[in-house]
Amino acid sequence: MGYNQQQEDTWKHLNEHISEWVEESKQHTSKGLVASYIPELANAPQDILGICIMDASGNTVVGGEFEFRFTLQSISKVFTLILALMDNGEDKVFSKVGMEPTGDNFNSMLKLELVEPGIPFNPLINAGAIAISSLIVGNGPKEQIERILLFFREIADNPTLEINQDVFQSESDTAHRNRSLAYFLKHNGVLDQAVDDVLNVYFSHCSVDVTCKDLARMALVLAHDGIDPIRNQRMIPRRFVQIAKTFMTTCGMYNASGEFAMHVGLPAKSGVSGGILTMVPGRYGIGAVGPALNRKGNSTAGVDLLSTLSQAYDWSLF
Ligand code: DON
Repeated sequence: MGYNQQQEDTWKHLNEHISEWVEESKQHTSKGLVASYIPELANAPQDILGICIMDASGNTVVGGEFEFRFTLQSISKVFTLILALMDNGEDKVFSKVGMEPTGDNFNSMLKLELVEPGIPFNPLINAGAIAISSLIVGNGPKEQIERILLFFREIADNPTLEINQDVFQSESDTAHRNRSLAYFLKHNGVLDQAVDDVLNVYFSHCSVDVTCKDLARMALVLAHDGIDPIRNQRMIPRRFVQIAKTFMTTCGMYNASGEFAMHVGLPAKSGVSGGILTMVPGRYGIGAVGPALNRKGNSTAGVDLLSTLSQAYDWSLF
């Protein structure tokens, strides 16, 4: 059987089975809890699961509540990292953040004090992403936020992406821990700008509203090493996609990144709104959402569905 025939068979099989797999995985929503530490996120429904898988021509397989709108939250950190790399280059970025997983919670400040030189361990934990926000080029937070939004819209090929002001405000009002992290970073010489300005940028990029289709579209560009296969256009230098995918594999699912690599084996990034962005390199972009989270902060049903798919089609890279 030729490669193309195999691809077509997979696509047909996916189309036929996605609804039943979504229904099966949806049962796992009862094992999780919707995030509530950002009060606005607590309004999300507990029992939904949606997915969109996009191929290199833009065809999609969708299942469940794939039209549900949610905020990017930590998934945005992958793309601000890429923009910071494009703006500053590797040397500057890695003078401000490290390259290692922490084993601590995503909002931990433990290692900032314990481990010299007091820079965040990686760009996907909150401290690292706050440091990355400060590196986005722009004359003040307003311009930085505009550039980030333009970049996200460009990668998602969706000019309508906007910041959800209710989520932004809700996070800003309650982000006592992120504020402490940012002050720590300021003290340690990691942030050049005012703490409030940097946090404004960080909360804004976490609050961009998307659907599973937007995630799948953004992931498609990463799946093709920075080339958008639909517009046939390079969007991101290959090296920076390689860096992003490496962090997604080692830290993208926080303290469950090892477990996710064992069961799914694909680069991925989750967010506390329940989104997961992942990809089958060279083939598909994938976006999933299920707001009920496990103790590690990842969507219970989303992880279960991705495990089913990866095992059914032998998608693991390992
Ligand atoms: O900083 C926060 O707490 C949120 N804006 C983003 C956190 C997040 O999504 C972590 N994810 N699993």
